[in-house]
Amino acid sequence: MVKVVFTPSGRRGSFPVNTPLLHAARVLGVDIDSVCGGRGLCGRCQIVCAEGSFSKHQIESHSSHLSPICATEIKYGERKAPLANGRRLSCHSLLLDDVVIDVPPESQVHRQIVRKDAEYRDIHLDPATRLYYVQVEEADMHVPKGDLQRVKDALEADWGLTDLGCDTRLLATLQPLLAEGKRGMTVAVYQQTQIIALWPSLRDKAYGVAVDVGSTTIAAHLCDLASGAVLASASLMNPQIRFGEDLMSRVSYVMMHPEGAGEMTQVIREALNSLFAEVAAEMGISREDILEVSLVANPIMHHILLGISPVELGGAPFALTTDAAVEVPAVELDLKINGGGRIYILPCIAGHVGADTAGMILSEEPQEQDQMTLLVDVGTNAEIVLGNRQRLLACSSPTGPAFEGAQISCGQRAATGAIERVRIDPATLEPRFKVIGSELWSDQQGFAEAIESHGVTGICGSGIIEVVAEMYLAGIVTVDGIIDGSLASRTGRIIQNDRTWSYVLGSVVDSESDQAQIVVTQNDIRQIQLAKAALYAGVKLLMDHMDTDRVERIRLAGAFGSHINVQHAMVLGLIPDCLLEDVSSAGNAAGTGARIALLNRQSRELIETQVKNIEKIETALEPKFQDYFVDAMAFPNKTDPFPNLFSVVTRPALKVVADSGAGRRRRRG
Ligand code: FES
Repeated sequence: MVKVVFTPSGRRGSFPVNTPLLHAARVLGVDIDSVCGGRGLCGRCQIVCAEGSFSKHQIESHSSHLSPICATEIKYGERKAPLANGRRLSCHSLLLDDVVIDVPPESQVHRQIVRKDAEYRDIHLDPATRLYYVQVEEADMHVPKGDLQRVKDALEADWGLTDLGCDTRLLATLQPLLAEGKRGMTVAVYQQTQIIALWPSLRDKAYGVAVDVGSTTIAAHLCDLASGAVLASASLMNPQIRFGEDLMSRVSYVMMHPEGAGEMTQVIREALNSLFAEVAAEMGISREDILEVSLVANPIMHHILLGISPVELGGAPFALTTDAAVEVPAVELDLKINGGGRIYILPCIAGHVGADTAGMILSEEPQEQDQMTLLVDVGTNAEIVLGNRQRLLACSSPTGPAFEGAQISCGQRAATGAIERVRIDPATLEPRFKVIGSELWSDQQGFAEAIESHGVTGICGSGIIEVVAEMYLAGIVTVDGIIDGSLASRTGRIIQNDRTWSYVLGSVVDSESDQAQIVVTQNDIRQIQLAKAALYAGVKLLMDHMDTDRVERIRLAGAFGSHINVQHAMVLGLIPDCLLEDVSSAGNAAGTGARIALLNRQSRELIETQVKNIEKIETALEPKFQDYFVDAMAFPNKTDPFPNLFSVVTRPALKVVADSGAGRRRRRG
């Protein structure tokens, strides 16, 4: 008997001389990968034999304590890539004497995928789709059974997979593939229950795609299901924009054109297919190589993708056709990946809180936090989650498209040339700004040259937040959101339009006119007030239901949340008062949730259970929403004091300016 210790797991045991290392690892429950089942074909089982004296284990370990490199390993090196120095195939290394064996991360099936942000737990790799190589016994007249049964028997004998089903479409190809592979075959098994794809001989690459279907942008990330690595990413504008800029206008389109739902389903599926082709091409693979897609979307996109009319989501009671997670063969949705590929769509939470919010929860894990955590994904509907390990609440609030630059006179999407940062000197009321595509502020030397190719084209969402917050801090806008026309005597930047005033931020050169001004109008301020008041009122409702008057941690998700300056967002009263250092961006949390669901099948069960436990609050039914909304129209808020904010920001002097009556309150729909 010889001793073996595996690191990093620390598992140890004694085995007879000449035991294959992979076998010893299996017996001890050590996590070593394999697709070929120990045939020396896949190279996934590589280990390194440690050299030296390990007093802790009382082992003198030396590479000569394993059998010498064999012909199979040499052949593997010739066929694939030579084994790196010290590496061995554990399936073809026999124990001769005591050894300490290191299993490198890339040889572990359930390796951890490290997430960059220290706040996150790593992703534990355990994809729903895995590949298994089997050598299938020859057909025998004396043993009457079909070849499919022989494949299943081999999967049970080599891999312990029992009671497998098989997609019927594979039957026609089974025998030709067995013949082509000389009875050697790679089988893709989904959720350890269903055979979904077959290849002759050994195949060791499996791919999946994580997709975030946003109402504005669709993003896809091609992942290696064996390593978890993101290999290629692509995104495109949601082509449904031609049916309406925001979600509700797309629902209205379907209401007016009943055939429109089918059209929208078709364009979204075509868009996904083009993204699959794009990420596959970038990696030099074909769409057929993609075995799985996991997907997040808001409820309306979710329904349209599934071919369900979104009309019911357009008005109370905002009834979802299904809130359950959807697992479906890709062919049923006309999605062009492998013919046996599967689609997993995360569960929806409520009529306006979709699978994208489920993805955000999967990524951010508020249910694991002690602190009262607020998650906000700001889009045309803000999706809001509040809670900690005791309780989670969720709602959505109709912010409208102002934060995306729509309905703002000089607003535009975040693109090169858009103003994204603004500062206003309270003494002179002079602004300076930065545009996307240049690192320089507008008052720095070289700015004009830096932006020469694209110019200044408008203001994007984060720029609008900053300019309005800066206007308030500089005293240009009152606490009630009125531009103070009396300042026109101090600066030429305050200009009159009929009964209201505007602030001139800069000028733009465009093809329509030689010189146009970039202004922030009274109506722009109103649009921002309406949007931020809707968001804040939603947050307040959740805080009420949670019976708390403060949040301890705020995470802002989505593209908008990634770019806004948290202090300016708080100055506007977009988010509740909190220590500024406890407010941060969560990046594309929904998309990360889709990736987690793709790479870890247990996470699917986790989010499906979690979603059932979330308390859903319907803002449209809450009488207090209106009161909170009215209070939240003020900067930062009429009733809430924001002590943390005003401990670091000087509160502007209170002034009263008559309201000209611009703007009206708005509710969803
Ligand atoms: Fe495939 Fe060792 S298990 S090469």
